[in-house]
Amino acid sequence: MTRLVAGNWKMNGCLAANRRLLDELVVEAGVEMAVCVPFPYLAQLQERPAGLVLGAQDVSEFEAGAYTGEVSAAMLAEFGCRYVIVGHSERRALFAEDDLLVGRKAHAALAAGLTPIVCVGETLVERDEGRAMAVIGRQLGAVLEVLGRVAMARVVLAYEPVWAIGSGRSATVAQVEDVHAGIRGWLREQGVAADAVRILYGGSVKPENAAGLFALADVDGGLIGGASLVAADFMAICRAEAGGV
Ligand code: PGA
Repeated sequence: MTRLVAGNWKMNGCLAANRRLLDELVVEAGVEMAVCVPFPYLAQLQERPAGLVLGAQDVSEFEAGAYTGEVSAAMLAEFGCRYVIVGHSERRALFAEDDLLVGRKAHAALAAGLTPIVCVGETLVERDEGRAMAVIGRQLGAVLEVLGRVAMARVVLAYEPVWAIGSGRSATVAQVEDVHAGIRGWLREQGVAADAVRILYGGSVKPENAAGLFALADVDGGLIGGASLVAADFMAICRAEAGGV
């Protein structure tokens, strides 16, 4: 399967800074390189380096209609998005998105021909209490309940421990290995074609730690926040992934 490195710009950027970043980006061969940008910049990103794949950071669960402020999956598809992040921990924590809503958003994305990048992950308290895999199983279970087994194999999953996001403190190689194998095993137990599902790691991935994380058997790429805003760092991370094939 093609490995994927997706940048999550979050609520950062402006037209001038985006242009500078895009001018510096060189797309790596051997890895799918994507950027998930704020909605208004989807128009600007119509012009981008050849081969750079486009994505968004959220999507409405609804198809169309009187939903002020929402953006539909069809709109994202019209702007050439291939991916959309759903269920990022910032949306779960700050915007009260629950597990089933994340499932419905993933469903809306698939219905419009997009691939959802479904984020899961535990908080530090949940990890310390030994509940990491239980929490992730609950988050995944809700998505499976909405999508069913066949569609579940068409999503991309991203394991993002909440405590590792933007903290500079990545999960250790052993922790990532453990959870990724756990997620793959969970999918298999549920009767999902687990080997078809790409499982990304996200949380303080940097050029210095990328190669070690990407070399792990069940890590199929990365979801990159802060480092995706610096062209040299994002490219170095993509190179680490391409080298790890
Ligand atoms: P980070 O963010 O790389 O800045 O830790 C990752 C994410 O939130 O997707």
